[in-house]
Amino acid sequence: MKELKEWFVPWLLTAREYNTSILDKAWANPDYGRLMLNENPIPPSEKVIKAVAEITAKGNRYPDSMKRLRTKLGKLHNLGPENVGLCNGSSEIIDSMMRIFLQPGDEIIMSTPTFELFPPRAELAGGKVVSVPLRPADLQYDVEGMLGAINPRTKLILVINPNNPTGIFIEEEDLIRFCETGIPLCVDEAYLDYHPEIPSKSYLIEKYPHVFLSHTFSKAHGFAGIRFGYVVGTEEMVNAFNTMFLPWNVSLMAMAAAEAILDNPEEIAAKVAHNNRWMEIFTEELVKVGLKPFPAHGNYMLIDATMTGKTTAEILAAGMEMEKTFLKKINPIHGKDGYFRVTPGLDEENERFVRFIRNYFGK
Ligand SMILES: Cc1ncc(COP(=O)(O)O)c(C=O)c1O
Repeated sequence: MKELKEWFVPWLLTAREYNTSILDKAWANPDYGRLMLNENPIPPSEKVIKAVAEITAKGNRYPDSMKRLRTKLGKLHNLGPENVGLCNGSSEIIDSMMRIFLQPGDEIIMSTPTFELFPPRAELAGGKVVSVPLRPADLQYDVEGMLGAINPRTKLILVINPNNPTGIFIEEEDLIRFCETGIPLCVDEAYLDYHPEIPSKSYLIEKYPHVFLSHTFSKAHGFAGIRFGYVVGTEEMVNAFNTMFLPWNVSLMAMAAAEAILDNPEEIAAKVAHNNRWMEIFTEELVKVGLKPFPAHGNYMLIDATMTGKTTAEILAAGMEMEKTFLKKINPIHGKDGYFRVTPGLDEENERFVRFIRNYFGK
């Protein structure tokens, strides 16, 4: 008899893994600051909780396609409800886009380091990840390198804007160069809501119908556990995603939560203000002790501490020991092994992080 694994599709055995073990550790240690995940530290408002509780009474019914909610989301982009597809967090867009565009052996071009879910989801569709390192000097996208990696097997290009883990925006003219290739392009705007003064790139879909935008409520809206996201594209693009998404992929509760927070923009604004205030304080404190934070625009900050001679592993361990604070491990970039990432938490957690920075690096 064949062994079980011999029945699996081959790419199941060779795909990279997305490691979620840090979540089990974090839930098991609630007194530790969870500054290693790009979550929002502020819980949902009473309005959101009430909306979820109310709709739960109808939880015996299958949800519809929620045109009212899609209309509200479309308006944010000057588009219609037909340009919006709802999903169970934007991770579902990541997974679906691989299965929409890649056949086994096809390639997706992305830059590295990146959000670690992208490579495994491409590989689980049988796709090949072509990783182009960020430019060594400024950790910006290596646009020339990415364009140079295009070949007949290239079926998808990924741009995260602002990027994760650097938090840096791509220049408009560079993005247009990707659009001009005519190859399907995912612009992941997971963190754009932290800068509402900066417009979404959704205006591009009119001229470039192969472009789509990925949005999530896990960040500025604080719904990482509620799970809600949406894809923006032409009607044809959104139909493709809706075909690939499971029917009823978004629960009634998640949709009610999304509508409640959209109807209460002050809640989003307050969460954004909290984050941006702490991002500024972190920057000041890090610079004071001679570290190099990147000019970040999301809810996280990449920090280069290589010049202190400490490795990422040492920094993470010291943060946990000195201030019960989880920080994010970043693999070496261009041979420098002192990078780590931090996300603002609640005030008290952030004060602990600042204390750690002063005590660990300031002496
Ligand atoms: C760039 C990027 N895209 C998407 C996601 C996934 O978000 P969601 O919770 O909506 O699945 C993340 C999460 O960290 C991210 O960093």
